[in-house]
Amino acid sequence: MQRLDFPKDFVWGTATASYQVEGATHEGGRGESIWDAFARRPGAVYAGENGDVACDQYHRYKEDIALMAELGFKSYRFSIAWPRIIPTGTGKVNPEGVAYYKKLCEELHKYGISACATVYHWDLPQVLEDKGGWSDRGIVSAFEEYAKVCFKELGDCVDQWLTFNEPLCIAYLGYFYGVHAPGVQDLQRAVNAVHHINLAHGLAVKAYRKTGLKAPIGITWNPDTPRPATSSKADKKAALIARALETEVFIFPCLGKGYPESVTKDLNIAFPVKSGDMETIAQKIDFIGVNYYNESPVAADKKTQFKFSVKPFWQDLSDMGWPLVPGGLERQLRWIAEISKGAFGSPALPIYITENGYARKDEVGPDGRIHDRERIEYIRQHLAVCADLILEGIPIKGYYAWSFLDNFEWAWGYTKRFGIVHVDYFNQKRTAKDSAYFFRDTIAGYGEWGE
Ligand code: NOJ
Repeated sequence: MQRLDFPKDFVWGTATASYQVEGATHEGGRGESIWDAFARRPGAVYAGENGDVACDQYHRYKEDIALMAELGFKSYRFSIAWPRIIPTGTGKVNPEGVAYYKKLCEELHKYGISACATVYHWDLPQVLEDKGGWSDRGIVSAFEEYAKVCFKELGDCVDQWLTFNEPLCIAYLGYFYGVHAPGVQDLQRAVNAVHHINLAHGLAVKAYRKTGLKAPIGITWNPDTPRPATSSKADKKAALIARALETEVFIFPCLGKGYPESVTKDLNIAFPVKSGDMETIAQKIDFIGVNYYNESPVAADKKTQFKFSVKPFWQDLSDMGWPLVPGGLERQLRWIAEISKGAFGSPALPIYITENGYARKDEVGPDGRIHDRERIEYIRQHLAVCADLILEGIPIKGYYAWSFLDNFEWAWGYTKRFGIVHVDYFNQKRTAKDSAYFFRDTIAGYGEWGE
């Protein structure tokens, strides 16, 4: 059995996001977000659930951080809720919101855990959606203003910054498929959102550099780099189209490579680019964040809008119905290392796995424990990929388990449990699952393969 050897300075982290864990949506001067509004829409979220209470981390962060420390984690990736910081989207800053994240960071630092903050993990103030949200160009300056407030108010306590989490989901799930807030189904609005997110990212990084702050700043993508279902030419081409549309339109502009022609020319998709935008987007970032869960095969399919579709696979499924494909992470990381080589003059941009995890129907057993064997197996296999690639010289610097807690899984509500710590939503009791102990042992270096 393979050993999980990691460099001494490898960052072991765990992650959450504001709307998924904080709760207290009507407290601390927080404004309304698109997820509050979306969750009220009949049928939008499973069983009509919402993030009003979630894991109540707004009140229980001390208890959560103490447990994180006990397990040995060295970094916590959380997100800042825009409607807590600027409840009306633009304008007046809410001191109570700022104070919450300061307290959170201070508590982390008390245990020597670093604070990795995502500026935007999907909870847009509803007032801004009323003006067109990410599909309206006005959002770009609003985001720049909000990001600047985050840097100014929290710059002295955040150790690592991410501008956005998963632009693909913001643009496509939110504005094309309509399965996430704000629930819009309009291709051009989604295409506009892609460009505005890219531009907002660039403006935020540019503003960050002017602050003189030294903490590294990057962005988290969830690249989709599917494999062709067969070795036929048509399927290979389909896989490339899928990658271009779902991944390259986000990554390429940020790395200074512009929008891929296979999308702008071959698919005739028009991004609302104005003069100077592409230069603004291509700001030097310090690292790349990657969220990886699974990979599906795609094949040519003339019947669909973009001439490809996802094909059945044979791997075991998680409770999300997602196949377990650690080889997909390997393919993806190799591809990212390749395309980012030489970007911004650095030989290879550092990569952090900012999310990786497994949903399972976890229940506390009669022995008071949760034996989440499949999750451990999933994590073990993905960590093994990272360990191997590090040995080959791919600069993977850290790994954040998704998620620290079971939480509000967006349109799935509370039915899907991704946590390494179980949450009983009736009494908010936390119970570390076996996977949490697996992390404790792996981080401490005396896991199954230790000496
Ligand atoms: C990625 C998202 O960033 C996170 O919010 C979500 O819960 C996980 N994927 C699992 O779906």
